[in-house]
Amino acid sequence: MNMITKNEILNAFKFRHACKVFDKTKVIAKNDMEFILETARLSPSSFGFEPWYFVVVQNKELREKLKKGAWGATIKLDTASHFVLGLTMRDFFIKYDSPYIQYFMSQIQHLPEEAALNRRKIFKTFQKKDFDLNTERTLFDWASKQCYIAMANMMTAAAMIGIDSCPIEGFNKKTSEEVLQKYLDIDIKKYGLSYMLAFGYRLNPPKDKTRRQLNEIVGWKE
Ligand SMILES: Cc1cc2nc3c(=O)[nH]c(=O)nc-3n(C[C@H](O)[C@H](O)[C@H](O)COP(=O)(O)O)c2cc1C
Repeated sequence: MNMITKNEILNAFKFRHACKVFDKTKVIAKNDMEFILETARLSPSSFGFEPWYFVVVQNKELREKLKKGAWGATIKLDTASHFVLGLTMRDFFIKYDSPYIQYFMSQIQHLPEEAALNRRKIFKTFQKKDFDLNTERTLFDWASKQCYIAMANMMTAAAMIGIDSCPIEGFNKKTSEEVLQKYLDIDIKKYGLSYMLAFGYRLNPPKDKTRRQLNEIVGWKE
């Protein structure tokens, strides 16, 4: 494996910022966008169940529709080269006894039947007891956390190849999900909208970063 230096990695983290306005004239090459999405695919998730789905919205009219209720996304919808919706699976898919979990263990993880049965038992205890994921909301929020790991990876990967991004939670969840149902053919009983994620090339230089020092956010017990 070709290693990259710590400096190169830190430079990418410093390069990444929440880009407010993108340069409309610059379009991300298809293979670059596919590379970014590939880092979402390779992201880790709890039990490896990948409770996510990503929709890349390039259609202008659909982007217009998405503006409804999405106060934090308007300028990004107008200017981003690529605009991704991070969808998270609801209990229909992600509850321990769902057909999706069964399919996933047998077809994706290739677990023999007995191993799958055992794993499902552990997953059931994890959801019902260990993590108390006993309502639709808690289950969705837990699955959503996995979806955010993919988001972080996409933003970092993009920065590493000089592409800007902006994570977006500036929307009314109910209104935006209604738009998804009505215009994007997404079954919102099965998926919820976790975030929007815009990609492109910056128009303006970013503001200086504001961050607490490492010793304020890390405690060592030695
Ligand atoms: C989950 C999440 C949601 C965010 N939502 C928005 C948003 O709706 N609109 C926006 O302009 N920035 C949004 N941001 C960007 C943050 O404001 C930004 O990351 C933070 O202020 C730190 O600045 P930096 O990313 O430029 O270093 C969001 C960031 C995260 C992680």
